[in-house]
Parts: sequence; structure tokens; C-alpha cells
Amino acid sequence: MAVGIFDSGLGGLTVLNAAQQRLPDVDFLYYGDSAHAPYGVRDAEDVFQLTRQAVETMWAHGCDLVILACNTASAAALRRMQEGGLPPGKRVLGVFVPLIEALTEREWGDNSPPREVEVKHVALFATPATVASRAFQRELAFRAIGVDVEAQSCGGVVDAIEEGDEILAEALVRSHVDALKRKMPEPQAAILGCTHYPLMEDIFQKALGPNVTVYSQGDLVAESLAHYLERHPDMMGRGPGGFLTSGDATRVSDRATQFLRREITFSAA
Ligand code: DGL
Repeated sequence: MAVGIFDSGLGGLTVLNAAQQRLPDVDFLYYGDSAHAPYGVRDAEDVFQLTRQAVETMWAHGCDLVILACNTASAAALRRMQEGGLPPGKRVLGVFVPLIEALTEREWGDNSPPREVEVKHVALFATPATVASRAFQRELAFRAIGVDVEAQSCGGVVDAIEEGDEILAEALVRSHVDALKRKMPEPQAAILGCTHYPLMEDIFQKALGPNVTVYSQGDLVAESLAHYLERHPDMMGRGPGGFLTSGDATRVSDRATQFLRREITFSAA
């Protein structure tokens, strides 16, 4: 059946876009839990319960493999779901590891001990829940030493995107970048640690300046998924794909079409 891509709302569409380009023969089923977005202002238990329910919905729609295309859900729920045991034949993957492997110049699945890497000063932009989880720093510490991470919790950006308010989203991005620069004036790299933020990538890049390398997850996750499917061809998605939401399908379709600049039609989950 189709490969499932899940996010709290529209952000995971940035991952879906890249995955569809990288894997044109794979069918994808997208599910946005818009009725409960944003996740990033909820506590970890709440995010875990919502994510678990959403993944079960996707399994019920026949997706054997579900990608949590949401950093907030990956931080709060991925490890806990995997450790709690998944039903036979079902798999869940997150979005942190491919990003951190790219930042730390590692090949896929290189589990050698942490080492010094080129980049020393990293700005992390993420939701309040992802920043509070410190999941990014934990994953980084498994792979690299001597990297200074300054995290900026970007309150309001996801809400503005979900509401379709691009002007507010841009203003908030600029103010969050200013706040980050007050703490770390010269980051070498910036991580867009929320899948909604690539929708504002130009604004982040302009505000950060041309010397900062901006890492966003779409292409990195798509490449990592391609490797995974080579090794697990039984998970290769073929079957009805599409777009599901727990929210108002017409409204969510309008917002998705606005931000992705292509026609996207959601149905009620
Ligand atoms: N797109 C989700 C992420 O990557 C954010 C979500 C939210 O706050 O709902 O963290």
C-alpha cells in the first residue's frame, strides 16, 4: 500500500514534494492532523497521544510504512512508539536523523563514534516543543563533538502558516532570526527543524544572510527514504495515495494550494 507521510498540518507537504520527485513510482498517502495543529505548543504526552492516533489511522488506511514528517512528533513520539513495539509488518520513521547525518557529513547509517566536524556554530529553528525536547542536540551528540547549538523557539510561525497568513509568518520569521542572532551573531549553519519552515525558506535565508548554509529536510528525508526502500522493497508503496485531513477539507485544500503553489485536494480522514 501507499507510503504514509504524516504531519500535524501542512508542513509535511514539503517532505512529500521532495519524496514524490525523488521516488516518482511510489504512491504516497498524506495525512495532516489539522484539527489538532499546531502540535508545537502542546506538551510531550499530548503530542505522543495525537501522533499515535494519527499513525494508527494511517495503518488503518493500509500504509505499512509511515514517515513522521513532523519534528515535533518525531521528538515526542518516535522513540516511544518504536520502544513500545509496533504491530507486525508496520514501520515508523522520523525526520531528524537524515538531517543530522547531512550536517555531520556522515553516510547513511554510519554509527561510528562521535567526531569533530567542519561546522561549529549551528542555529536551530524549531517549535517550542521540539526545542524543549532537546532531541536534536541528543541526536547530534551521538555523531559530533564540539558543535555549539543555539536553539530558537519560533512561536507563532506554524499557526500563521496554518491560518494562511503569509505576511504574519514572514514577520515572525524575521523576528525569530533577529532573536537568534542576538544570541549567536555568526552561525555557520541554520537548521529548519520544523517541516513548515521550508515554506518560508527564502525569508530565513535572506534574514540570515548569504554566508549561512540553511538545511531543510525535504531532499534529505527523500534521499534517506530512497535508501530505506532499496533495502526494504516490501515497503515500496503502491496503492491508492492522496491527501487526508482531520480538519475542514475545503479550508485545508485552499491553504495547501496557496503555500505549495499547486492544486491539492484533501478529503476528510
Ligand atoms: N511541522 C511540524 C514540525 O516539523 C510542526 C508542527 C506544529 O507545531 O504543529 O515540527
